[in-house]
Amino acid sequence: MTTSTSAASPSGADERPYSPGLEGVLAGETALSKVDGANGRLVYRGYRIGDLVERGTYAAVANLLWTGDWDPAARLATGPVPDVVLTTLRALPTTAKPMDALRTAVSAWGATQTLDWPPTAEQARALTAFSPSALAAFARIREGKDPIEPDPSLSLVEGFLYQLKGEKPDAATARALDAYFIVGAEHGFNASTFTARVITSTKSDIVSAVAGAIGTMKGPLHGGAPSEVVDQLAKMGTVEHAEEWLRGALDRGERLMGFGHRVYRAYDPRAAALRKVAEGMEHKPEWLELAIQVEDVALRLLAERHPDRPLKTNVEFYAAPVLMGVGLSPDLFPATFSLARDAGWTAHVLEQAASNRLIRPDVKYVGEEERDLPA
Ligand code: ACO
Repeated sequence: MTTSTSAASPSGADERPYSPGLEGVLAGETALSKVDGANGRLVYRGYRIGDLVERGTYAAVANLLWTGDWDPAARLATGPVPDVVLTTLRALPTTAKPMDALRTAVSAWGATQTLDWPPTAEQARALTAFSPSALAAFARIREGKDPIEPDPSLSLVEGFLYQLKGEKPDAATARALDAYFIVGAEHGFNASTFTARVITSTKSDIVSAVAGAIGTMKGPLHGGAPSEVVDQLAKMGTVEHAEEWLRGALDRGERLMGFGHRVYRAYDPRAAALRKVAEGMEHKPEWLELAIQVEDVALRLLAERHPDRPLKTNVEFYAAPVLMGVGLSPDLFPATFSLARDAGWTAHVLEQAASNRLIRPDVKYVGEEERDLPA
């Protein structure tokens, strides 16, 4: 390991390389997922994302991330919400953003748990199981309805939809949401995962790490795109209007939501997997047909405008029709993404703790030189 604590030039300036946003900087090691942006490939512990979506379940994928073992029969149901958390959720304004409610619920839940160091797969499982129940409870409370108790016979996504709507979902709907949870489960050193690892590196607990990660994911540059995809599709209305609308948006310097990615220069493999799932849904989301046709036009226009910069479809573009298709309101999309990412965040917490070193980088000082206080 190389450590460099100072590299001052004779003039005193820090000459060490600096990359804004840490872009291109290796900031850790992981065996959990490999994001190959150039070739549009994503694997979790070596297994291709397309295969995991086709043949796995979220429970099996979460278990794979936590333990390294592939057990297709793994089970994971939603967990109970302690009274103190329900009281906390009831105390929130009904206008609170679901991400704020989820972050608050996770934090309140943490205060009810004994969370010894090092974090364990059991802690990861309990937190991942609790979170969908908490979000569903908040969604009902804000509508003046009572929360619904978890049904341990249901899978995590079935339980989430049941506790949200009061009806058990049909198999195709549950399958579609499960696929979304699988593709959302893990994605390298994205900002929220990095946050979780920084928090863990101080030997803080798994709940603090996930609460911090939720706060990071709340930012529109990270977790906010799918609802904006829905907004844009709604503004286009029909495929006949799509080209005119898309050209106008690009002329105004706006970004087309669901396109482009910091890492992927090829088609996002998660978008491909989700599109397949959406196409297979029994009650095809009405947005899907529009999305498929708009995608072709958008890709053509983006290639015209940015011939040197490959801008392809990202996961959020097809997350939008899937989430609409399973009947979630767009304001729940970012928090639902967080529920899916619980598996990855908590797996990173375990991985960080297993070979922990406090994450504490240096910063380049660009302020005043040492000087005397004014008299
Ligand atoms: N629509 C139109 N133009 C775009 C888009 C887009 N979606 N994405 C990038 N560009 C253009 C930029 O305007 C820029 O053009 P310029 O060089 O003429 O100024 C060029 O492509 C490079 O853009 P950057 O911001 O440097 O690209 P970066 O890789 O940092 O951005 C990002 C990635 C933030 C995802 C961007 O593509 C974007 O804003 N996309 C739309 C929002 C979105 O879909 N977010 C979800 C991402 S997936 C996820 O977070 C899970």
